[in-house]
Amino acid sequence: MSSLGIYIHWPWCKTICPYCDFNVRKFKNIDILEWEKAYIKEIYNMSFFAKEKKVSSIYFGGGTPSLIEPGLLEKIINCINKNFLLSPSAEITIEANPSSIEYIDLFNLKQAGVNRLSLGIQSLNDQHLKFLGRDHNSNQAKKILKYTEKIFNKANLDIIYGLPEQNIIKFKSELSNMLTYAASLGHLSIYQLTIEPKTPFYKDFISGRLTPPPEEILSEMYYIIQEETERNNLSQYEISNHALPGNESIHNLGYWRYNEYLGIGPGAHSRVVNNSSRMAIVQINSPKNWLNSIQNNGNGIAIKEVLEQNEAAMEVLITGLRLKEFLPSERFDQYSVLKLSEIVKISQIKELIDGGFIECKNSKIKTTNKGKSVLNSIIERFDQIINSEH
Ligand SMILES: C[S@@+](CC[C@H](N)C(=O)[O-])C[C@H]1O[C@@H](n2cnc3c(N)ncnc32)[C@H](O)[C@@H]1O
Ligand code: SF4
Repeated sequence: MSSLGIYIHWPWCKTICPYCDFNVRKFKNIDILEWEKAYIKEIYNMSFFAKEKKVSSIYFGGGTPSLIEPGLLEKIINCINKNFLLSPSAEITIEANPSSIEYIDLFNLKQAGVNRLSLGIQSLNDQHLKFLGRDHNSNQAKKILKYTEKIFNKANLDIIYGLPEQNIIKFKSELSNMLTYAASLGHLSIYQLTIEPKTPFYKDFISGRLTPPPEEILSEMYYIIQEETERNNLSQYEISNHALPGNESIHNLGYWRYNEYLGIGPGAHSRVVNNSSRMAIVQINSPKNWLNSIQNNGNGIAIKEVLEQNEAAMEVLITGLRLKEFLPSERFDQYSVLKLSEIVKISQIKELIDGGFIECKNSKIKTTNKGKSVLNSIIERFDQIINSEH
């Protein structure tokens, strides 16, 4: 029986961070009962796309899903249990912001059925937290990290690096401080700051008020992260993700291994297999319109389409080459006319293998560390080959 991940998107945040381009809105007085009915209805609707599949993970993401009342969380988990085959050992994660939780809240999340917490710590330096527009400080973050360690067996902390004026010496000491917490929680997601179009940071970047560190400093930081995490037994298993053995995120591994998943909530994406084709479903982006559509039309779906074979094959590469493990050729070959064993013999890809960007063993491939730092250009090369064949 194939396994399935379910993502629930909660679009509300207390404040909107100036770097963020996720599908989020400022939390206002929403009619929680209306939202509850909408999630329950849409979980039921979406269950028809994934009958007889065992749910191995649920992920509450956002936004700030730790703002959801534990009672509603429990209802959503129970509803998934009723409409799907929820594995008793399913990983159930929630993203939480340090500013919106106390010990009792963490305890209530666990009582509601959550067994993994992902904390948006971002930094343990107060100046950096202020720059990032976060509504928590380093003391609050440390307090929540300690509580989390006591309550949850599986947890993650999110960090952002590559901030203006962050030099190598300061970065090393900040990283070593954060790694002590990450090692006791078991998982670290560490992202380089991305300046996303249409965010306040983008305006500052364009006007010259915000200047990220130069490229060579950023790549040195990336190599320091690999060295230091390895020393703390937090091996890299995906470009930005590190874990103690056995603490990898089951839900996110599902995306990168191109397993099936359902996304429920404003803007959420799904990929399911239907008659041996890969189907893409996208929910309506605007929270208000998503809710209205469920109330008036009975569902919140914006797009439902079968992916072209080569689109699915490209998605296998885009997700699978982020991982440290090899990408098995069968995962790619089931969607592509041109097989992986033939592609690796083509000169543009052979060059990448000879140059140490890609490793190839029995037609399975993976990116090396050097390859991961230029992943976009590697993907472009594959795209040219795959799409010129169709
Ligand atoms: C979906 S966000 C939600 C987490 C939670 N709401 C929070 O902010 O604490 C997941 C993570 O993406 C990362 N992130 C968001 N925007 C980013 C950006 N522009 N550059 C780098 N990392 C970013 C942050 O580390 C954040 O914790
Ligand atoms: S709290 Fe998280 S999701 Fe919300 S705006 Fe900030 S980074 Fe984005």
